[in-house]
Amino acid sequence: MARILTGIQSTGIPHLGNILGAIKPAIRMADEGDNEAFFFIADLHSLTTIKDRDERRRNILGVAAAWLAFGFDTSRHVLYRQSAIPEVTELTWYLNCFTPYPMLANAHSFKDKSDNPANVTGGLFTYPVLMAADIMLYDAHRVPVGKDQIQHLEMTRDIGNSFNHLMGETLVIPEVKLQEDTMYVPGTDGRKMSKSYGNTINIFEKDKALRKSVMSIVTDSKELEEPKDPDTCNVFSMYRLLATEDQTRDMAAKYRGGNYGYGHAKQELFELILDTFGKERERYAALMANPEDIDAELERGAEKARVVARSVLGRVREKLGY
Ligand code: TRP
Repeated sequence: MARILTGIQSTGIPHLGNILGAIKPAIRMADEGDNEAFFFIADLHSLTTIKDRDERRRNILGVAAAWLAFGFDTSRHVLYRQSAIPEVTELTWYLNCFTPYPMLANAHSFKDKSDNPANVTGGLFTYPVLMAADIMLYDAHRVPVGKDQIQHLEMTRDIGNSFNHLMGETLVIPEVKLQEDTMYVPGTDGRKMSKSYGNTINIFEKDKALRKSVMSIVTDSKELEEPKDPDTCNVFSMYRLLATEDQTRDMAAKYRGGNYGYGHAKQELFELILDTFGKERERYAALMANPEDIDAELERGAEKARVVARSVLGRVREKLGY
């Protein structure tokens, strides 16, 4: 059995890009073979950017509800809040003492912001060490991440190897697994869908707000009668990600035939979103209406995670003489 572990950012409610590009492929991978997945909401890392408690709480609930709505199986796997296992901060301290300064100074997460050092906190600087603790506290074998996190994972391996070298074999060194499955999901302006571009479609919104964001997709200004090119249209490129082959072919024909406006295409996309994600939207709304159910699921996960964390931390303390 392989233990797969990954941290989920909790800086916003997951949008269509997160769902197709990250949540669905990760759930598929978790369920492969006899894998066991430890997925956690990185709510300690989020403190480097989010200082508002209500915003943090909203994000944690929204992220957890999204994973649960898409069928993350908590009877087989483990979903928890990072902060529910404070042992991770203790391990972070120990690992800090095995982490050379230049390694941290070289991290992209730090370097990208270091032109203005006054804005860099100790938390941001040691962000990769908390990540290393996240992973090695649970004897994780494999860590699926996007390209932007590969450097952090390599630092985890270096820190772990340095600990093992100096203190004797203690920590499991994780394998890095590049998640290739990063499907390109265009946003409402055609650029990659991303919260930072403000071009997201949030499929969990109420019908009216969801329809409004679909209607905001940018198109050219061809008249209704004119034939249109599906391959250069943002509405069509989002539609095809969700549609069957037949639906895709039909819509392309309507584009080319003329007398088919972008408003029509957007309406069809909106309906397809409601159709495709009807069940998930319902589950999400039900969970969000009962946050204590979400808390209970997360606590159930934390109980399982805690058992592993205590045992690994025990090994570490013993080696260090604490
Ligand atoms: N830093 C990761 C991100 O921004 C999230 C994360 C935190 C993580 N801890 C982790 C990912 C441990 C993998 C393993 O996406």
